[in-house]
Amino acid sequence: MLDKINKLLEEIKGLSASSAEEAEQLRIKYLSKKGIIPQLFQEFKDVPNDQKKSVGQAINQLKAAAQETINNLKEQFEESQLTSGATDLTLPGTFMPVGSRHPLSIIRKQIVDIFGRIGFTVAEGPEIEDDWHVFEALNFPPEHPARDMQDTFFITQDPDILLRTHTSSVQIRVMEQQKPPVRAIFPGRVFRNEAISARAHCIFHQVEGLYIDEDVSFADLRQTLLYFAKEMFGQETRIRLRPSYFPFTEPSAEMDISCTLCGGEGCNICKHTGWVEILGCGMVDPAVLSNCEIDPDKYTGFAFGMGIERIAMLKYQINDIRLFFENDVRFLEQFRAES
Ligand code: DAH
Repeated sequence: MLDKINKLLEEIKGLSASSAEEAEQLRIKYLSKKGIIPQLFQEFKDVPNDQKKSVGQAINQLKAAAQETINNLKEQFEESQLTSGATDLTLPGTFMPVGSRHPLSIIRKQIVDIFGRIGFTVAEGPEIEDDWHVFEALNFPPEHPARDMQDTFFITQDPDILLRTHTSSVQIRVMEQQKPPVRAIFPGRVFRNEAISARAHCIFHQVEGLYIDEDVSFADLRQTLLYFAKEMFGQETRIRLRPSYFPFTEPSAEMDISCTLCGGEGCNICKHTGWVEILGCGMVDPAVLSNCEIDPDKYTGFAFGMGIERIAMLKYQINDIRLFFENDVRFLEQFRAES
């Protein structure tokens, strides 16, 4: 019996196969239920007791050797199948394009973070508004040109329902609901019936700011806006406030920053003045406080409003506002590195 086993062992060591099927045939021949090796286990019953130990060990060794040899033969064909067209698991995966934030979202988040650090919370109001919140409560006289059909989108026959033309409407909503102190900013989308060009769009975004409390002064306004300008455009940035007019603030001002491109030397961006305008602001008109049932003898406050597109255009040197709305990925993916 041992002789037979040793012969088989030699035979198995010399096995070869030229295809996966041949290897499978060998497995059937030697290892399947009726194969040669399981047969040996049958014959093992008749082995005299004193030889059982050595014969048993030999059969087990033979079985292990057969399994290993035949598995190796099979694997060799599995590998060659991989190189001949099936999926190669060692190749790098397919590239999955990762999106990027929209530049307007990036700038809005930066503005929210900058004001958040000095205690301003965030609130939002409706885009479809009524005349009271967009104009009347903000002290726009009945014949004010901003109410004109040329600026305002009306969406029904009812002239009282309109798309807000600025986020200043949210000032009124907040002051109607919340008694001072109020310290918040209101980012949002606004709508104006304007011809679309490189500099103007009929839909754009603003951030409004409002601070109402006892003893809020113009100096507080100036200091807050200086802090904002430096955080947004760099610590070397200077600001300049020019007298202006808005119905809902008194006094009113427009704020310029020193040109982000030339630093004040004079260039195309600042039209050789060294300054670029970025927002409107002022002390909240007492009449506006009264409209919201806030006592103007007790409280004062400041407000400001800026266009997010304008800030983004200055910061990234973008010269056409339409790029923000076309969603051309070649434009958008340039902002991938920003957060
Ligand atoms: N609402 C103004 C606009 O759309 C911007 C503005 C100016 C907002 C002065 C203010 C402000 O809060 O005080 O042009």
